[in-house]
Amino acid sequence: MVGTAAGAGLATISYPIPTTDGATIDRANKVILVRYQGMVHALARECPHKGTMVDWQPEQNRLYCPKHKSTFTANGTRIQGKAPRSMDRHPIRLEGGKLVVDTATVIEGDGANWATTGVKVG
Ligand code: FES
Repeated sequence: MVGTAAGAGLATISYPIPTTDGATIDRANKVILVRYQGMVHALARECPHKGTMVDWQPEQNRLYCPKHKSTFTANGTRIQGKAPRSMDRHPIRLEGGKLVVDTATVIEGDGANWATTGVKVG
């Protein structure tokens, strides 16, 4: 399911396109892949407050930080809590029918290019 794209650097990971809305956590690489409102985003799993690993709560359709209880929508937008911003994202693109995520690059939550970082899916 998870693999390194051929010819790419070690920080590039490919994933199949999720077929349903929700989140998949790649624990080894600290990436949360989410499909939400016709978009797929690759979120950095570390909470933007103190770096605790954020979890997905499917029954509430939200992301949750257990350390200080910050919450985020499925696409990483901050709802409430001590987190000072929305969750950070990684650049993501479609290539050969797969999603390719550049985990070496972090786009800070709510910063320049954050809102447009994602891939539109059918
Ligand atoms: S580490 Fe996540 S809210 Fe503090």
